[in-house]
Amino acid sequence: MIDLEVTQQGKLLIYGATGYTGTLIVHEAARRGLDFEIAGRNEEKLAALSTELNVPYHVFPVNDLGGWKASLEGKTALLNIAGPFSETAEYAMEAAILFKVHYFDITAEVDIYRLAESKDAAAKAAGIMLLPGAGLFATYDPLVVHTAKRVKNPIAMRAAFKYSGGFTPGSVASSSNIINAGMLVRKNGKIKKLNEAPSATFDLGNGPEDFSLMPLGGVVLSFKSTGIPDIEEYFKLALSAGSNVEGAVKFEEGHPKKELITVRSQILIEITDEDGMVVRSMADMPEGYLPTVTSAVEVVNRALKGSYQIGFQSPASAYGSALMTSLLDVVITDF
Ligand SMILES: NC(=O)c1ccc[n+]([C@@H]2O[C@H](COP(=O)([O-])OP(=O)(O)OC[C@H]3O[C@@H](n4cnc5c(N)ncnc54)[C@H](OP(=O)(O)O)[C@@H]3O)[C@@H](O)[C@H]2O)c1
Repeated sequence: MIDLEVTQQGKLLIYGATGYTGTLIVHEAARRGLDFEIAGRNEEKLAALSTELNVPYHVFPVNDLGGWKASLEGKTALLNIAGPFSETAEYAMEAAILFKVHYFDITAEVDIYRLAESKDAAAKAAGIMLLPGAGLFATYDPLVVHTAKRVKNPIAMRAAFKYSGGFTPGSVASSSNIINAGMLVRKNGKIKKLNEAPSATFDLGNGPEDFSLMPLGGVVLSFKSTGIPDIEEYFKLALSAGSNVEGAVKFEEGHPKKELITVRSQILIEITDEDGMVVRSMADMPEGYLPTVTSAVEVVNRALKGSYQIGFQSPASAYGSALMTSLLDVVITDF
């Protein structure tokens, strides 16, 4: 890990700044005093946001190399929030490698984690970090590492994510990509596609509940951070898929308002060790997109301050299990 004592903080470019999550993230970045510029493809929205926050903006389509060159000049890191990431991540990662800036995104699309993994050598050669999944996975992945450390030799991991909140259009498009990736699990260290989607029962504190298998990304990211050879991930939606995101995420004037959060999401991690012992740890966190907004800004800020590891990284492979305890209103229980 490179941990520089930097006196001057690096500068950030946020691409996809004008979407729902992007707007929340830029307000949080401004609140925390990050030095950043914004970018995207919609001039009207960017100009309005730029005026509101008093930050420069850049307008260019994601496949415009000249746009990347000009906007990444003098930057330390790129945070890509333009999703679905199947349309944007490859261009943005290639630009980050070419112009030598650290790359972050908030994707939950498992294929994008595999894409970043495939660019590990190129990122190392460029001396930059590629860290996809700096949103939800900034809690999930450190929680896996935390739980795995509770046993001597972990050999299997199962995760259950119960999500409370709505979905934006970008998330709906990304969800299709997650589902279309197929029923992926990791078995004996290798990614395997199942023909049928098994269900499983987990108790998150309110009695047994049914969850469906879904590749959330731990099959790539948490394998990276722990090397656990068998990984299965399950998902359950606490609210209906039609829930309006505006009603499910509590921000006021663009800033997270912890006291307004009444519904919570949970991630349960279950680790089995070589002797068959099972331990569980659970993260209880605010509903909706709040954890993503605060996590992304926290993770990116670390790189801007000179703390990073080159190559493909997961949140925990770069910043360890302690990352989750630095996040807003995440409560961990071991049992
Ligand atoms: N895992 C997590 O923690 C987490 C949490 C929240 C969101 N997300 C993901 O983040 C992404 C954005 O979410 P959101 O809530 O901001 O969605 P959104 O409100 O629908 O906004 C999508 C943004 O992406 C931009 N965009 C989409 N396709 C693009 C392309 N081909 N080229 C350039 N820009 C493009 C849009 O630009 P225009 O305005 O020009 O259309 C818009 O700024 C989604 O993929 C979502 O799944 C992940």
